[in-house]
Amino acid sequence: MESWWKCALVGLVFLIRQGLCSSSASELAALQKEYGEWRLQRSPEYTTTIGLYKYNDQVENYAYSGFEEEYNKCFSLLSRLKQNVNYNQLEAKEKIDYDVFNDSLSTIVQGNDWKDYNALNPIHFLEGPQIDPTYLPKITPFDTVGDYENYIRRLELHPTQIDDMIGRFNKSIEKGHTYHRVSVSRVPGQIEKLLTSYNTTTFPYYKPLLDQLSKLQTITDSKKTNLQERAKSAVEKIIQKLSELKQYLENVYFNHLRTGLGVNSWDNGAAFYRACLRWHLSLDMTPEEVHNKGLQEVERISSEMKKVMTKLNHQGSVKEFFDNIRSDPSFLFQSGDEIVQWYKNAIKNDIEPKLSAYFKDLPNLPVDVEPNPNDGVSGQYIAGPPDGSRPGVFQVNVHRPNESVKIGFMALLIHETLPGHHLQISVASTVKNPDFRKYMTGHFFNIPMEAAFYTSYVEGWALYAEYLGEEMKLYKTDYDLMGRYGSEIFRACRLVVDTGLHHYNWTREKAIEYMLNYTASSEKKIAIEIDRYITWPGQACAYKIGELKIKELRKKAEDELGSKFDIREFHASVLKVGSLPLHVLEKIVNQWIVETKNKAAESSKTCTSNGANTNTYTNWISLAVITLTFILQQT
Ligand SMILES: *[C@@H]1O[C@H](CO)[C@@H](O)[C@H](O)[C@H]1NC(C)=O
Ligand SMILES: *[C@@H]1O[C@H](CO)[C@@H](O)[C@H](O)[C@H]1NC(C)=O
Ligand SMILES: *[C@@H]1O[C@H](CO)[C@@H](O)[C@H](O)[C@H]1NC(C)=O
Ligand SMILES: *[C@@H]1O[C@H](CO)[C@@H](O)[C@H](O)[C@H]1NC(C)=O
Ligand SMILES: *[C@@H]1O[C@H](CO)[C@@H](O)[C@H](O)[C@H]1NC(C)=O
Ligand SMILES: *[C@@H]1O[C@H](CO)[C@@H](O)[C@H](O)[C@H]1NC(C)=O
Repeated sequence: MESWWKCALVGLVFLIRQGLCSSSASELAALQKEYGEWRLQRSPEYTTTIGLYKYNDQVENYAYSGFEEEYNKCFSLLSRLKQNVNYNQLEAKEKIDYDVFNDSLSTIVQGNDWKDYNALNPIHFLEGPQIDPTYLPKITPFDTVGDYENYIRRLELHPTQIDDMIGRFNKSIEKGHTYHRVSVSRVPGQIEKLLTSYNTTTFPYYKPLLDQLSKLQTITDSKKTNLQERAKSAVEKIIQKLSELKQYLENVYFNHLRTGLGVNSWDNGAAFYRACLRWHLSLDMTPEEVHNKGLQEVERISSEMKKVMTKLNHQGSVKEFFDNIRSDPSFLFQSGDEIVQWYKNAIKNDIEPKLSAYFKDLPNLPVDVEPNPNDGVSGQYIAGPPDGSRPGVFQVNVHRPNESVKIGFMALLIHETLPGHHLQISVASTVKNPDFRKYMTGHFFNIPMEAAFYTSYVEGWALYAEYLGEEMKLYKTDYDLMGRYGSEIFRACRLVVDTGLHHYNWTREKAIEYMLNYTASSEKKIAIEIDRYITWPGQACAYKIGELKIKELRKKAEDELGSKFDIREFHASVLKVGSLPLHVLEKIVNQWIVETKNKAAESSKTCTSNGANTNTYTNWISLAVITLTFILQQT
């Protein structure tokens, strides 16, 4: 009797503990799912982009009241996370999930304090409805009459979106948190270009109503005419609204521009800049720390460049060195085909054979090189689906082969493909992460009232990969090395200049001069860069800070582990978690160091060989279901 009773009690305790365990884990999973679903609903156009068509008749809400909705939702999720999920009952992998989820929600909840700052200014020379009207037709399916009905609905809702943006601008004037002239002075010209280049039926929004529609057999002619008439009327209203937007900017908003370049000229602006840095870096760093890191890095890279230039017998400045190269035909290509072939060969012959010494368990996801359909960025990476059915694609600019200088190619290739973004995203796609972490969408102008997208991790890795290229001896000549330093110093200068503008009260001229002193870029290109930093405070700092953090963690691991340090294991610990905040990465690597030490101590005690990887957080299992739409541009 007694022993039966005891047994039942043990069983009950066991059941309860089991029940609690799985309830924390399943509650975490449920909350993450709810959040992911809600994010997609909030970004209907983006949801279309990733091939989910359930919100194709809806558009993103730009109304000021949307902030409150966002805050309430995230606050509620965060409360339920705190209340219903017991951190200590989670498995190692789930703890990381918790940390990232908590960071995502907390970022938005805390960001709400800043909703009346940059976020009130949704249009500038890099973002807004005037930037790319070909985007919506490009992402939309046009296979059925329903597809056309949805699309026209979206066109009809677009003027309201623009009105809501103007509503935010009005509020920005009221609060005294408007842009500086450099952020918006180009916008009326951008709008004017659309208005003068197109009429209603040639406007990009109308294009799907032409050939594409006429070829569709399943729609009657009278229905086609009906769709065209309605689309025409919707496009006319959009054109009208864009014209009103232009007048509004010129006649109202431009009368209230801020005069200080930096956001620290706003009330409480110094704290706002701190919040922006925190959002972009996913680390708590002061502007002074970021600035000083930048100065150190610029000095270090600059002296490396001088060493190489001396070796190459070049006496002049960095700029003169690159100018000489640009005019030397032996560093240029004759055709776009040659450029594509160069990259393909470099992947096959130079990079791939060296990967296994630095990485383990690499998924076999192929990468292809293609010409970029549009002139513009020098290269961009477009990830394939995680099942490998389509390769990742590295698109290279082939439009001006006689201006494409070979010496920057290796660094760019490493950054975008292997061991940069392609390798990073291929590995991340094999980790079973919650869906919301595969959706990277949002607007830079909203920051820090915006869902995090962890640029410092993503781009930090790609810059670290450029560095790793030196160890891997991928830069075969001193010229290739100069190409690498040329792109690296640009990222280092950004730390100095961004903080210079928003914290140290630098003038635009001083910022331009600083970058002219250390980089090879033209004054025209630098001026556009500077205007971007003024518009997106803190954003440009993410790349270098991310790289420095990964290097710092590696150094720490090497110091603590000594001969037990294994570069392949270290890289796995950084990559097999997917995109996340750097402060969480730091925790993960620290944990990995401790585990590696313990394992080493144990195996020396028991003398048993242990080949299995017991890192539980590297949950190396089934492929993610949702297609990751990931386009990374060299920015
Ligand atoms: C959740 O995030 C907040 C804000 O970063 C932090 O203060 C808190 O300690 C985190 N909670 C847990 C359980 O880690
Ligand atoms: C914005 O302000 C202008 C000028 O004060 C006003 O005419 C307009 O109605 C306002 N628009 C919105 C959407 O609030
Ligand atoms: C728009 O421009 C095209 C090409 O210039 C022209 O064929 C068409 O008639 C114009 N449509 C309208 C409505 O003016
Ligand atoms: C490259 O070629 C184009 C067209 O052939 C020419 O206009 C341009 O000046 C050339 N650029 C350089 C740097 O030689
Ligand atoms: C920048 O200027 C503001 C206002 O003029 C001033 O309060 C602040 O101390 C200055 N910052 C620095 C770092 O000099
Ligand atoms: C640029 O270089 C010149 C010459 O060395 C120097 O006098 C100037 O202070 C530098 N400018 C900046 C902003 O660092």
